[in-house]
This record gives sequence, structure tokens and C-alpha cells, in this order.
Amino acid sequence: MKKDLGSLPAVFPMPVLMVATYGEDGKVDVMNVAWGGICTMDKIALNLAPERKTLKNIRARKAFTVALADLAHMKEADFFGTASGNVMTDKFERSGLHAVKSSHVDAPVVEEFPLTMECELAEERETFGEIRVVGKIVNVKADEKVLDANGKVNAGKLNAIMFDQYQNTYYTTGEQVGQAWRVGAEFMKK
Ligand SMILES: Cc1cc2nc3c(=O)[nH]c(=O)nc-3n(C[C@H](O)[C@H](O)[C@H](O)COP(=O)(O)O)c2cc1C
Repeated sequence: MKKDLGSLPAVFPMPVLMVATYGEDGKVDVMNVAWGGICTMDKIALNLAPERKTLKNIRARKAFTVALADLAHMKEADFFGTASGNVMTDKFERSGLHAVKSSHVDAPVVEEFPLTMECELAEERETFGEIRVVGKIVNVKADEKVLDANGKVNAGKLNAIMFDQYQNTYYTTGEQVGQAWRVGAEFMKK
């Protein structure tokens, strides 16, 4: 028996994206974004409320980075989604994490997160009362420890966390269970 739950953004999992920017004053800010995702092979879209400090910073610097939050830094990731750089001037310092300037874009790379997309601002659009920011991914930086022998990212080594918007909790990723474009192939033969 299925129950109607009404209109919900019922996708699971949602990502836990760590969007890092510089303010006009050069200060690092990092924000937690779950309402975002890849939209073409080299673009990532973020849905931001208009008042976010991160949005002001993106407008000022035309760039941002997006890291995947990992289990080891879940508390810091959650804090980045709780405090705003608009009011907490030492937000990033309080987290105890470290950042260096990206070698590709005018934005910080948080050293502790294992994988980071370095993005140039490609588009900003107001849509349904929020701001949709699209970044062009010009480079991905990954810690060697999350790569396989062929230099590709091994998702199992990321220890990425996921957001559950039904109950506002975080999940860890599970086991690899199948090869995409292969496990469904038997239905092609009928
Ligand atoms: C799990 C989680 C997901 C979030 N996702 C978004 C989001 O997609 N868009 C958004 O505007 N705010 C989102 N937030 C809220 C911001 O991260 C939060 O308001 C933060 O303080 C903004 O920081 P800033 O003002 O320094 O940019 C999320 C918060 C949490 C905890």
C-alpha cells in the first residue's frame, strides 16, 4: 500500500557539496549545498538562497570550488551549513580546516577534502525565488589516496557523505554493487 506524501523534493541521496569562495576582502568562506548537481559533462549547478555570503563572493570573484564532504569532516561540513559568513567573520578559521588558492580559479581549495572541482562562474539566473549558479568545471583536484592504479577516482575511497532531506540526516556511501551500462544489459537481448 503506497501513501501520498504531497509535494517533496524526494530525491535521495542528495550530495553534500562544500562550496568555497573568497570574499572581496580575501576571506575564505565555505558553504554546505545539497541542492546542486552536475548538469552537463563540465558544468555544476548550485541553487542558492539570495542572501548567502557565498553568492556575494561568487559575484565578486566569478569563481568557486566545490568539494565533496567526507565522513572525517562531517562536523565541519555541517557547521558550514549552519553559520553564515555574513555574520560570523571567522567562520572558516573556527572550523580549523586549511585552504590554499586554487591554481586554476580565483577561489580557495580546502586541503582536508579529498576531491575538489575548480569552477569558473558560467551563468547566474534567478529561478523560482532562488539563484541558480552554474560553474564550468575547469579542473578537478583529487588526493592521490582516493585514486586507483589507473589514476581514476575510486568512489569507495572518498568516504563521501550524503544528505537525506526526509529526516535531515547524513549517510555514508555503501558498497559498489554493479557496473553501469552492464548490469541491465540482459533486457536488451529480449
Ligand atoms: C545539509 C545542508 C544543505 C544545505 N543546502 C543548501 C542549498 O542547497 N542552498 C542554500 O542556499 N543553502 C543551503 N544550506 C544552508 C547554507 O549552507 C547556510 O545558510 C550557510 O550558513 C550559508 O553560508 P554563507 O552565508 O556563509 O554562504 C544547506 C545547509 C545544510 C546543513
